[in-house]
Amino acid sequence: MSNLIVLGAQWGDEGKGKVVDLLADRFDVVARYQGGHNAGHTIYIGEQKFVLKLIPGGILRPNTEVVIGNGVVIDLAALIEEIEKLEESGIDVRNRLRVSNRAHVIFPFHRLIEKMSEARENRIPIGTTSRGIGPCYEDKTGRRGIRVADLMDAENFRMLYDILAADKQILAATFHLDEPVNYAEIREKTEEYAQRIRPLVCDTAAFLHEAMARGKRILFEGAQGTMLDIDHGTYPFVTSSSAAAGGACTGTGVPPTKIDGIAGVSKAYITRVGSGPFPSESKDAAGDLLRREGNEFGAVTGRPRRCGWFDVPLLRYTAMVNGFDTLVITKLDVLDHLEQIPVCIGYRLCGKELKEMPATYRELEAIQPIYKALPGWLAPTRGISRFEDLPSAARDYLRFLEESTGVEIGGVSIGPERNETIIRTGTKLQRLI
Ligand code: GDP
Ligand code: IMO
Ligand code: MG
Repeated sequence: MSNLIVLGAQWGDEGKGKVVDLLADRFDVVARYQGGHNAGHTIYIGEQKFVLKLIPGGILRPNTEVVIGNGVVIDLAALIEEIEKLEESGIDVRNRLRVSNRAHVIFPFHRLIEKMSEARENRIPIGTTSRGIGPCYEDKTGRRGIRVADLMDAENFRMLYDILAADKQILAATFHLDEPVNYAEIREKTEEYAQRIRPLVCDTAAFLHEAMARGKRILFEGAQGTMLDIDHGTYPFVTSSSAAAGGACTGTGVPPTKIDGIAGVSKAYITRVGSGPFPSESKDAAGDLLRREGNEFGAVTGRPRRCGWFDVPLLRYTAMVNGFDTLVITKLDVLDHLEQIPVCIGYRLCGKELKEMPATYRELEAIQPIYKALPGWLAPTRGISRFEDLPSAARDYLRFLEESTGVEIGGVSIGPERNETIIRTGTKLQRLI
């Protein structure tokens, strides 16, 4: 048995989709544990591009089964659209996807509530993906949410839906939201979608436990990144779920005792979409260069990603809260043309060097990063298949990241294609997969 969690070590978009797809053929099941269709996981197989939002990365491996766990929030229209799109490309989804009966359902009015909280005066706009993710999780923790299992019982669903819809109508009236919402139509559509996903719905925790009992291996897929985690991220500029490693257990019903390893995925630099503090952000031409070379535009919203330099204190922090065994460093090739590569090696606040990650966004915004410039390699890295064959300055750069973060680098990605990844021999990553 060897079950592995793969998750984002920064602010999302680290290349998790690519890494999960690469590793998925060595696992029997890939289980997604949180988030929703706010995620955008890009995978290239040759020239063919896939962007997965709700469906786990393993779907592109014909022998892997995939699970949407109880910690995920599901927009049924988005799920059905994603299934259909994949099936149009010839991928069998319906026989390999299981959807948790305990996952919560996103309704169109959740987007309306999100708009309200993003636009209201005196509220801090987070720059969300506008997918209704936060308000759906609010209903979940508020114990008034509607779960997939509730949809399977028409009478029960109607009762719960009418109560929830009445709540939202009161909110809309109180806050003078004059956007028309056809609650009856949403209910009918949901009933129709429920019938379509019914064959996929089950107790996915029981399914995963049965699979483990038969010696099957599970890969847990995180969405977003640790710095967007509701507890450990740069609150309030976070998403509303547990993206960090603990979320893999609460979001699937698989206990911590069954987890054998945790792999963090990190870019060789760093990006962030949406608002919030970003100590090593590069707002100048160098940042523009990273955006251009790295094609840093959101996979879901198309927004330009904010770009900056690898942040050692941030990575040390995310390694601490996740317990990373190993790191996969992606997009090393994006740095190929740089003569010098700054790395943030420390934080200063009010003249003092910080030992811990500040908890408030105001302190995070006031951080003065301490940089060290490392020599670039000015040579192409794409096409290289062994760590030893990387340019020596590239190896030195990676060794510096390894030593300063205290986590081994088990894998290096040097291009978007599935096979453009180096798994280093003799590493924990190699043993865990
Ligand atoms: P995810 O959300 O973590 O799965 O990442 P995204 O798919 O949102 O963003 C990562 C982007 O980088 C995608 O466009 C990938 O195709 C691309 N990508 C991943 N790894 C590499 C790499 O090693 N080099 C380059 N140049 N692009 C990469
Ligand atoms: P993947 O899985 C990057 C960001 C949004 C916003 C904040 C809250 O592709 O890495 P939300 O809609 O979740 O309430 O928005 O979180 N965000 C992401 N940023 N990658 C993602 O997913 C993200 N999912 C949400 O931009 O700042
Ligand atoms: Mg993404």
